[in-house]
Amino acid sequence: MLISKKIKEIKEEFYLKLSDIKNRDQLDALSNKFLSRRGLIASLFSMMGDIDPLDRPKAGNELNSLKELISKEISLSKDKFASAVVDNLNIDYSLPGKSKNVGSVHPLTKTILLIENIFMKIGFSLAYGPEIDTDFYNFEALNIPKHHPARDMQDTFYLNDGNVLRTHTSNSQIHFMMKNNPPIRIIAPGRVYRNEDISVRSYCLFHQIEGLYVDTNVSFADLKSLLNYFARELFGNDVKTRFRPSYFPFTEPSAEMDVYWGLDSESDKRITKGTGWLEILGCGMVDPEVFNNVNYDSSKYSGYAFGVGIERIAMLLYGVEDIREFYKGDTRFLGQFK
Ligand code: PHE
Repeated sequence: MLISKKIKEIKEEFYLKLSDIKNRDQLDALSNKFLSRRGLIASLFSMMGDIDPLDRPKAGNELNSLKELISKEISLSKDKFASAVVDNLNIDYSLPGKSKNVGSVHPLTKTILLIENIFMKIGFSLAYGPEIDTDFYNFEALNIPKHHPARDMQDTFYLNDGNVLRTHTSNSQIHFMMKNNPPIRIIAPGRVYRNEDISVRSYCLFHQIEGLYVDTNVSFADLKSLLNYFARELFGNDVKTRFRPSYFPFTEPSAEMDVYWGLDSESDKRITKGTGWLEILGCGMVDPEVFNNVNYDSSKYSGYAFGVGIERIAMLLYGVEDIREFYKGDTRFLGQFK
């Protein structure tokens, strides 16, 4: 049959020409020659009318398969020439990519934002006190007179002009109360400084969040329920807390709050010193003497205050074992908090 012979010839011609193709232009020309509307395949289709009707279906099938085969070969070759173009650019695919250094929020900032959010949700607003302050705001007004033994609790950095680097955020309480009248509901985050020996647990600066609530009829029960809410928001609903009596000159009574951390692992034992409990904050009812110092009527108002250590909480939340990591600015450490 004439058409079968033709098909065979065209197929052979195609493969012969294809093997000579060296670039994309030649390939396009080849594709035109065989597949275009006036190409070789089309001319064979136009011969169909001359074929014996009985032979037509078979011839049609053969022709269709040829067309498919040639289309497939051409598109495979197109892929080959596409990647050959890239090869010509001399790209070394084994080179590592250039990564962009994207910054991240510092874990201490993250922790502060988290805690701020917990208190702001229930109506506390933000206030700030200065990091360099007078003896009055950091000590005197907080009922810590000169030569009071309580000053030894906080190894103070004194400046030459007699000012101090604040040893706690409690100075913010005084600043705020001097300028505002009750009711008061604030939290005051910030950096504090103490001249302590540097170790895995302590550094010469750290961060606290102070809380202060002043109104009529504020009770210790209010303080406890607030701090239990705080612990639940921070560590989950199953958290266990306990309040231990403590002493601060500016609160009476005073307490420290512990959360139960567990004793399951070696590291639990180490960080809780074998007790399972961890102290996370100091708190108490504002001492009437402090109200007197800021000219509040201490027979009318009562309040509570608390001070949370940020580093301690960040270490617990993120499993950081050495407090000094927070201050090194090492991007390998910081990059883990993206
Ligand atoms: N200022 C105290 C400290 O730094 C913490 C504290 C704040 C305690 C407010 C009671 C009330 O240790």
